[in-house]
Amino acid sequence: MVMNYRVIEEETYIPIPAESLIEGTTLTFPVFISERDVYIQFFERGSRFNGPEKALLGEKNLSEVFIMMSDAPAYELYRAVQRRGEGGETVFRDSLSPGYVGQKEEYFPIDRSFMVEGLGISFSLFRLVDQAFVLLAEATPVSTLILSTELVSLPGAFFIKKDDLALYHELLNGMMAVTVEPGSVAWSLRVSAIRENAKVIMSCLIDNPRSGERIKESKEIVGSLVDCVFRSNDAIANMLSLKTYDYYTYAHSVNVAVLSIGLGVALGLKRPEVETLGIGALLHDIGKSFIPHKILNKQGRLDDSEFEIMKTHVTEGERILLDHQDIPAKALDTVLQHHEKLSGRGYPYGRSGNEIGLFGRVSAIADCYDALTTNRPYKTAFSPYKALSIITGEKGDYDPGLLRLFISMLGKIHLQ
Ligand SMILES: [Fe+2]
Ligand SMILES: [Fe+2]
Repeated sequence: MVMNYRVIEEETYIPIPAESLIEGTTLTFPVFISERDVYIQFFERGSRFNGPEKALLGEKNLSEVFIMMSDAPAYELYRAVQRRGEGGETVFRDSLSPGYVGQKEEYFPIDRSFMVEGLGISFSLFRLVDQAFVLLAEATPVSTLILSTELVSLPGAFFIKKDDLALYHELLNGMMAVTVEPGSVAWSLRVSAIRENAKVIMSCLIDNPRSGERIKESKEIVGSLVDCVFRSNDAIANMLSLKTYDYYTYAHSVNVAVLSIGLGVALGLKRPEVETLGIGALLHDIGKSFIPHKILNKQGRLDDSEFEIMKTHVTEGERILLDHQDIPAKALDTVLQHHEKLSGRGYPYGRSGNEIGLFGRVSAIADCYDALTTNRPYKTAFSPYKALSIITGEKGDYDPGLLRLFISMLGKIHLQ
């Protein structure tokens, strides 16, 4: 079904049925009503939707309300809610369909802000509907797909086949090649293209961790990420991935790199050190290449034996990178120590206090924060505030000075 849409002050709003808001839930997106073509926020993100709120919509006789298009993934996830967990933050849905689990790794979510009307693309687009990837529009080697108004106004995430990643990579390279100054629209597009390319490179590297060529590309893309932050601190917000329906190791890796780079800059580290930190942070979970998808994508908690297998991603990561001469030895600290805790309760070696280097401490905070604020099909992400209160609540596990700096950095990002 093609939904109606209207653009007001550069934001696109899409209608949703009022009855799709479920009584007794937390709204993970702001809800708007339309009065004389002006969109008014009616419920805030994070507010509770209880009996009185439902009655309020009833009083106004509203059968339709609106959400911002950028919140469509959050709405999709919300619609999947089956029952609430304790505390209201955790929501569960029915178990993942075997079809989705089997196909997830074959598709790649793309940044749809590049998908503008009139653009010609050489790869087909897909959508996720009820846990199934559905072809939206097809491109073939001899026929380019020209994006129509109808197509670009569809809500939700767009995916491409992983086989088409090289074509997406080519489109992004073109956008990265533009020389622009911070502050312009072209600059933000370039920053987004660098972030997307980092995800593409990491996705290929995780599928083929022994590729020297991919390792070289990953170092180069970290150089571009660091360059953006040194030229404009505002770039950090734009370099973090938008919330998607599910967790992807490559998107997580890029976010951990960006947050670590930001923290490195906030610490006053010199540029070469920030680059080494960024390389280690981008590659911190490279060892997950050897963890079976069944464990990586498991719904819910891992049992003891699965967790033992999961833990091996740290030493596997070190093993892979030791084979690559051009990875700086200090970058390996990030790989080997991102699950260590100052309290000694971490893994793989249970190191504590000063046994954990600065890069290990930085990446541990970035890693935990990104994991907590990432959606899973069976669990909505924690808000930044809730995630930080969880991390700071883990007394003695994380470096308190770095945490203060991290919180202040995030404060600036969210104020933008
Ligand atoms: Fe990890
Ligand atoms: Fe991680």
